[in-house]
Amino acid sequence: MRLLFVTSEIFPLIKTGGLADVSGALPAALTAAGLDVQILLPAYRGILAQCESPQRLGALQAFHDIRCDIYRTTLPGTNIPLLLIDDLALYDRYGGPYHHPVYGDWQDNPLRFGLLSKVAAMLSVPNMLQPWQPDIVHCNDWQTGLTPYYLRQMGSQAKSIFSIHNLAFQGNFHADWRYRLTLNENDFQAEGYEFYGHLSFMKAGLYYADALSTVSPTYAKEIQTEQFGFGFQGLLQHRAQDLTGILNGIDTEVWDPAIDPYLPVNYDAFTLSRKNEVKQALQTELGLQPLVTAPLLGVVSRLTHQKGLDMLVEIAHELLASGCQLAVLGSGEAALEQQYLALMQQYPGQVAVTIGYNEPLSHRIMAGTDIFVMPSRFEPCGLNQMYGLRYGTIPVVANTGGLADSVQGGEITATGDLPPTMTGLVMAENNPSTLLVTLRQAIQLYANSGQWHQLQKQAMRQDVSWETSAKHYLDEYKKLLSS
Ligand code: ADP
Ligand code: GLC
Repeated sequence: MRLLFVTSEIFPLIKTGGLADVSGALPAALTAAGLDVQILLPAYRGILAQCESPQRLGALQAFHDIRCDIYRTTLPGTNIPLLLIDDLALYDRYGGPYHHPVYGDWQDNPLRFGLLSKVAAMLSVPNMLQPWQPDIVHCNDWQTGLTPYYLRQMGSQAKSIFSIHNLAFQGNFHADWRYRLTLNENDFQAEGYEFYGHLSFMKAGLYYADALSTVSPTYAKEIQTEQFGFGFQGLLQHRAQDLTGILNGIDTEVWDPAIDPYLPVNYDAFTLSRKNEVKQALQTELGLQPLVTAPLLGVVSRLTHQKGLDMLVEIAHELLASGCQLAVLGSGEAALEQQYLALMQQYPGQVAVTIGYNEPLSHRIMAGTDIFVMPSRFEPCGLNQMYGLRYGTIPVVANTGGLADSVQGGEITATGDLPPTMTGLVMAENNPSTLLVTLRQAIQLYANSGQWHQLQKQAMRQDVSWETSAKHYLDEYKKLLSS
């Protein structure tokens, strides 16, 4: 089975969030399961230089005025073919994959990701560049939403699956873009790519893909409701038969406390005392008081409404009164960044806040903290809670999406035993006071080192690898090909 995996970000080349981690790991798991996988990505600035001997396959005339070069290389650290779309005007820019460094979204994002979508389809019909064509095209998030549409427009034999990583980002643009992107006028309607008068990349993906998936079973159900559906609940209910939820895995080599190169000391479930050494080094690094017995809470996150971290600010004073410490790494909404910085000023030595994006520090926070906090309002999957499990850093999570599917809560029994299935703490409701109660429970548990170590071991034993999930995807692809 040949599979083209289309994505707008991939670890370790370009990352803004969990999609990059998934794109960097799932294709390898699928390859290990026997699939013949190629990946397609835009060649953002510096990407070609990071890859081993990229070979120019040729050029594609994607739109009447856009002719782009396609390069073939491999994803660093793997043998998986990586195809890169080289278009200097559209991708070779200083800034993020979606944003100008200062002025917000790139104004020509519809064209930039329309091109990604179109090239994916062009590579899925017979072409001059390579004899290889996919049986399945696996699209990810709105940036690839037009691919299923173009596949049909071009009469491709390939089947498409569209994975929703976050329904909140929809790629809705002024309707006039449909001309530039050569979409058929007839399809600009409710039964098509139109969404409230706009051209919607997300809508196109949801409407035209042969199959839909999202990144956890619970989120697959949630997005069919008004609360989580962002206006797409009707369409998703209509397509419920074609929609499946498959929980993400994590890259267990990149995220392994036993070999993690970013840690001062490595550890595993049998050498947990060394985790305390990582904690002490982290406290020193961040200017926290060197109190190894103080429970240290960690956050690594985009600071946005989705992640619910405004609730943590709200309860911070009551929480910190108990003497626990807090280490935050994140960036996002300016107001929330300011609130966290103010908290650090108020609690020197007890709260450390780093604004920005810092891969090595994220590993050290994951390893050096005791409790990982994720009170998300919605969370399609979430990866950090799984990194927490793997690092023996007990996740405290909201009862939503992939958080609910990956963290098993529980309570100490009357006889003082820890349920053998428990791997973290799950908030009963999603509000600040419940967050406070749940964090206090975690802190109480932490004070009992016997129970805590038991909990850490149970967390570290949980299977968070891609293996099982990759098999689920394989089943979905097989179903598609036989339909
Ligand atoms: P989302 O994709 O919604 O942001 P996920 O939990 O799926 O959430 O994935 C987030 C990924 O981005 C994780 O790998 C996390 O470690 C990383 N990350 C988020 N914020 C930062 C940051 N400020 N510095 C380094 N890594 C970060
Ligand atoms: C999105 C979601 C996150 C998920 C990630 C990878 O960014 O917000 O929950 O883990 O995609 O699927």
